[in-house]
Parts: sequence; C-alpha cells; structure tokens
Amino acid sequence: MTSDSDTAYTIQYLDQLRTDAEKELKSIHDEAGAEQFRIKYLGKKGIIRSLLKSIPNVPEDQRKEFGALSNKLRSDIEEQFNAAPWRSAEKADHRIPLDPGLPGYPFPRGSLHALMQIRNEIRDIFLSMGFTTAYGPEVESDFYNFEALNTPEYHPARDMQDTFYISDKMLLRTQTSPVQIRVMEKQKPPIRSIMPGRVYRNEEISSRSYCLFHQIEGLYVDENVSFADLKGTLLAFSRRFFDEKTKLKIRPSFFPFTEPSVEIDVECFLCKGSGCSICKKTGWLEVLGAGMVHPNVFKSAGVDSEKYTGFAFGIGIERIALLKFGIEDIRLFYENDLRFLKQF
Ligand code: PHE
Repeated sequence: MTSDSDTAYTIQYLDQLRTDAEKELKSIHDEAGAEQFRIKYLGKKGIIRSLLKSIPNVPEDQRKEFGALSNKLRSDIEEQFNAAPWRSAEKADHRIPLDPGLPGYPFPRGSLHALMQIRNEIRDIFLSMGFTTAYGPEVESDFYNFEALNTPEYHPARDMQDTFYISDKMLLRTQTSPVQIRVMEKQKPPIRSIMPGRVYRNEEISSRSYCLFHQIEGLYVDENVSFADLKGTLLAFSRRFFDEKTKLKIRPSFFPFTEPSVEIDVECFLCKGSGCSICKKTGWLEVLGAGMVHPNVFKSAGVDSEKYTGFAFGIGIERIALLKFGIEDIRLFYENDLRFLKQF
C-alpha cells in the first residue's frame, strides 16, 4: 500500500489500511521493526499524514464520515503501536527480579568409568617409570595386526583370536600389539611406551568374554634390554598396583611376536595366596602376557635386531577390573546401567 497521489481515498481504502497496519504491528519484534513501522505509518511523510491531508479532496457528501473514520483510524493505530506487545515483552525481560536466595540448578556429577579408572592407574604407574603413551587406530590393517607381528597368513596362531574382518586386508584390531609396530616405525630406540586401547574379538558373549575389551600394551626397546628387565619392570608395576609384597609367577607361553614368551600370574591380592573364590583356590591370578620382542618383529618395523633388544607385554584391563572390584559379569561394563556405574 502506498500514499501516492493517485490513491483512491474511499471508505474501503480505510478498511484495507487498518487491516494492513494491524497485521504489520503484529510482526514487529524489535526496536528496528518498530521504527520502520512508525516512519511508514505515523511519520511526517507517512501514510496516515497523507490520508488526513487528503480529506479536503474527498467528495463533499462523504467527507464528514471519511474524516471521522480517518481520525479514528489514526488514534487506534497510535494506541496499538504504543501498547505493542514487543515493548512490554522487552521491558518485562529486563525486569526479572534477581533473587539470590533461590536454590540453584543441580548439575549431576559424573565419574570415570570403572575401566577408565583402572586404565589410568596402570598408565600412571608406567608414566612414573619413564614410559610415554601412544595410540593407534582401532580399524587396522592385516599387516599391522598380524603380518608385521610375525603372524603371516595361515599361521595357526591367527586362530587364537577370532577376528572381525572388514575387508580382505582391513579388520578391527584384535590386540594393541600393532601399535608397537607403529611406534617403532616412527621412533628410534630407546623406546619406552605404553599403548592403551580398545580391541575386538568375535567371541561368543558370556559373563567372561565380550566382543570388545581393553588392553594396555607395553614396549621397551634399547641396547642390552634383557629378560631380567622384563621381570624387574613387571614386578615393580605389580607391587605398586596390587600389593607391595606381591609375588609373580612366570610361566612359559607362546605368542608369535615374542620369544621367549611368558604369561605372568600375580599372587592373589585378596587371599594373599592361600586360595579363595576370586583366584579359584589357586592362590594365583593370571594377569598378563609378555616376552622378548621377536627379531622378525624388529625387522618388519625397521629396527636393527643385531643392535637392539626389547620386551613387550599386554595387560587386559577388564580382567584386572573384574578381579579388583569383585565383579562377576564382564557385560556389566558395557550396559551403562547407572546403578552399576555409580558404585565406582
Ligand atoms: N597381544 C597379546 C594378546 O592379546 C598379549 C601380548 C602383548 C603378549 C605383548 C606378549 C607381548 O594376547
């Protein structure tokens, strides 16, 4: 709608003007919109002003009624404009009284997942011994997860771990050991590294095993690293993590990527070796696999096996958490039931 001189100033025009102005008033949200409206309708060159100016030109028989309606229209629009809801809303917003005595909003406190607590505890002990942390991808290539770890295709040891394959050459890592290779590729010895992470195995789900779990891998490579260093390091770790008098039992085992390979049991921290339900009356808890890094592994990672030796180990975090917290079912770690999680 315009206030051009060729506008037909009729009663009908007044009705139309009122409808338009009211509609526009409703769509005002802020100062800028209000100012626009004021200039357009109520300003010196606005529509209402030209409307009033045009009264003398209206045919005489309609002039009186037209004049009265025009003035009414002006005062209605002014009134509505001054009482416009955007104003009161704006004013009201600024006037919310501050009551410092009102109770605050509660922010529920979270806590670290039991598995992460154990992981951090283990990690911190190794960090204090001079190890650094490294990470690798969970979607891994067959090369890093097996081949470079002295486990070529058709090696029977592949059956020790049921693998989720994504394609011929890609898989979900079954162990954190591939990160050993990645670390050695990037870094020259001496290497002292721990590599925490999630691993996957296509195992039947039960109270004792799940399709994913967590490990912490350890790797120590330097000149003259011996089996005695492996024993000493893991004994020092166990004494800090479990009990300062903890004993270790080292049993021969097999892993393709270490030679010799061992599995290490710690004396049951609950019964101190006398036999209880946690250690199944044996007095010992099986906690980790370890061994001296196989020369073939050094070869795949480009480390000179004539010059360097090293040891590696892998700790299962779930297993330790089950033991430490006395939990019966591994699946509880993954169900995210707050009643369970809040206990840690
Ligand atoms: N990767 C082995 C496993 O998952 C554990 C291990 C790591 C053993 C490093 C020896 C050395 O069973």
